[in-house]
Amino acid sequence: MKKHPIRLNVNGTEYDLLVAPNRTLTQALREDLGLTGAKHGCGVGDCGSCTVLLNGAPVNSCLVLAVQADGSNITTIEGLAEGTSLHPLQTSFIEKGAIQCGFCTPGMIMSAKALLDHSDRPTAREIREALSGNLCRCTGYQKIVEAVSDAAENMSRGGRKES
Ligand code: FES
Ligand code: FES
Repeated sequence: MKKHPIRLNVNGTEYDLLVAPNRTLTQALREDLGLTGAKHGCGVGDCGSCTVLLNGAPVNSCLVLAVQADGSNITTIEGLAEGTSLHPLQTSFIEKGAIQCGFCTPGMIMSAKALLDHSDRPTAREIREALSGNLCRCTGYQKIVEAVSDAAENMSRGGRKES
């Protein structure tokens, strides 16, 4: 199968890749770039574990072909921490007990980041709506909603907003 050259900016770094036309963005990130934070769950757009930000918007990377992302800016969970300083969402997920097995966590946090990038103090309902495409089979969701609300509160008090 003929491969196509693409360029992705991932977490602020430019990458030139040669990809088959049927390669997904999840595969390009995980297998070509070694960024395994975005998880391959269902592979068909149902679970949200593969969520990344594409030009600032959350997408299921399993549903995006790598060639479609050519020229785009991608943010993955690996791009949120600054050195050893975690993003407030990461800190709140840990402190509020919003993580059990952790499989859903990168996708949850990326969807939550997209919400907080546009909404300073979302309601619990707005948080649930923003995370409605992200499934978790461990936590029961309540702790996750609390963690996102806690992060929003911390960020509005002067915590870091952008990754
Ligand atoms: S792996 Fe992409 S939505 Fe489930
Ligand atoms: S913490 Fe296990 S799937 Fe969410």
